Amino acid sequence: MIAAKRTATFTESVIREMTRIANQHEAINLAQGFPDFAMPQPMKEAACAAIHGDVNQYAITWGSVPLRLAISEKYRKWYNMPVDSDREITVTCGATEAMASVFLALVDPGDEVIVLEPFYENYGPDAILAGASPVFVPLERPSWTLDQDRLRKAFSKRTKAIIVNTPHNPSGRVLTREEMELIAELCQRYDAWAITDEIYEHIRYAGDHYVMATLPGMRSRTITISGLSKTFSCTGWRLGYAIAPAEQTAAIRKVHDFLTVGAPAPLQAAGAVGMHFDADYFNHLAMDYRARRAVLVEALTEAGFEFSVPQGAYYILADFSKFSDQDDVEFAKWMTKEVGVATVPGSSFYHDRALGRSLVRFAFCKKTETLQRAAERLQTLHAHL
Ligand SMILES: Cc1ncc(COP(=O)(O)O)c(C=O)c1O
Repeated sequence: MIAAKRTATFTESVIREMTRIANQHEAINLAQGFPDFAMPQPMKEAACAAIHGDVNQYAITWGSVPLRLAISEKYRKWYNMPVDSDREITVTCGATEAMASVFLALVDPGDEVIVLEPFYENYGPDAILAGASPVFVPLERPSWTLDQDRLRKAFSKRTKAIIVNTPHNPSGRVLTREEMELIAELCQRYDAWAITDEIYEHIRYAGDHYVMATLPGMRSRTITISGLSKTFSCTGWRLGYAIAPAEQTAAIRKVHDFLTVGAPAPLQAAGAVGMHFDADYFNHLAMDYRARRAVLVEALTEAGFEFSVPQGAYYILADFSKFSDQDDVEFAKWMTKEVGVATVPGSSFYHDRALGRSLVRFAFCKKTETLQRAAERLQTLHAHL
């Protein structure tokens, strides 16, 4: 009798394990997706002001009024999407908690949930905690193309929801309008929810960001999840949100309340400041990431990795089988210890670990200097083989 059975079905996050090994070996950590540069100064100041101004008690469970108003205003301005801040928004402790709360609020044990694969590693445990059965649909290499036939076949009357993560972690794919429309059509045909994860919406190098909820017929069957972690480089603040029709929001808020009571009050005050930033801020964010991407793309190309250049988010999922026949976990640990660059083994993003056997994921949400130092170390990779 150690722990409940459900905990045995998922392992500790491999990403956090790789961070631990990276620290032991003083490796450059390109494993975990958190920035090593500062978040915007006005938001830091707003957080300090909120703390000094005694905004230190529970906020309203489903989010402070200023933050919900700021979210609603941002969706109107950016996506021409009206959102009722009183009845349709739940502010959560990160997109992570939003996803877990939405699963627990909308998915019953035994329901099927479609997940595009490779996938962000939290979706598996989310499905398990809700008792759902994940149904995987591949994004096919080399360009991570959505297999449309497999997608059509995956939908059935048992389908409760599909998780749509674009821009996509770990592949860097940005789904096209046509792909989003196909998903929308299938959701409508099979009476399924689209649960989106749009956490990288402002980190794109190609393609537009299509908000599923704005596609015809989708507002009433979409749960839009996003957050502040990536857009404002504040992964430790734990601020995210779910936008859903009022009836589903009521269910999501109940789950959220019992899980966490609410997100940190002073940080919500500062989050509202960020959500009001003008377009310049968001454009610069994408431009800065484009420059960081260039450094890593060059370094990995020179080292002989094979990969598709990401269209969005800040990861490169790269194949190393041309120069090593180790499996992904061995290779990632070897590279951390010998080369001094930490990555995430590709199998963490697949239900069948064999599918990620020759892949590792690099994160480039790092200062240019950090990426250049990693590039120098990667030049020595072949000497260590
Ligand atoms: C696809 C995706 N969703 C959600 C998250 C976590 O977001 P948050 O920090 O808001 O919980 C991540 C973090 O890496 C991610 O890659």
